[in-house]
Formats: sequence, C-alpha cells, structure tokens
Amino acid sequence: AKLIVVSRDGSEKTVEAENGLSVMEAIRDNGFDELLALCGGCCSCATCHVFVDDAWTDVVGTPGEDENDLLDSSDYKQASSRLSCQIEMSDELDGLKVTIAPED
Ligand code: FES
Repeated sequence: AKLIVVSRDGSEKTVEAENGLSVMEAIRDNGFDELLALCGGCCSCATCHVFVDDAWTDVVGTPGEDENDLLDSSDYKQASSRLSCQIEMSDELDGLKVTIAPED
C-alpha cells in the first residue's frame, strides 16, 4: 500500500509499505532517520510519534490505552497523534498520509 510521509522539514515522500508492516517500520525502512523508534516497536518509547492526516483519522482509529498514556508524555500531542508502530499497514490504508511529529 502507498504511504505518504511528511518529514519535519515539510517535504513529502510517497513510499511503498508492505501490508502487515507497521507504519513505523515502513518509514524506517525507507531511510527516514528522523523517526527514532528507539524501542523497536513495542509501544514503550513514544519516539515514533506521527500525526495522522485529517482525512484518515476515522480509518486509522484512536490510540489504545497504553499508547495514549505514552502520547500524553509528548509536548506535541494533538488529537491526530498516534504512535506509528501501533498502526498496521493494510489495503484499507492505501494512500495514508502521516506527518512525523517534532522531537520531544
Ligand atoms: Fe517505540 Fe513506537 S517505536 S513506541
């Protein structure tokens, strides 16, 4: 599925993300080094914070409880905030657009 990633400098890049991969893995595997993803995807570091584009919030859904607690620790939390390691790519999300959140 296609995934559109907006970097911190505002530049936009479309990458191909295999179904079943997390959005975090898809971003990391495509050479973005600004998404630290320090914990490797186990929902415990919050350095994979992204903002989900408004058009996609309903499809992507809301964060789980643990995820939401972690997001609360960010100074940049918005209504559209998610941890990208907790979003799994699928055909349903083809064309998803996310913006990498500022570094805390
Ligand atoms: Fe650590 Fe997502 S990679 S919470």
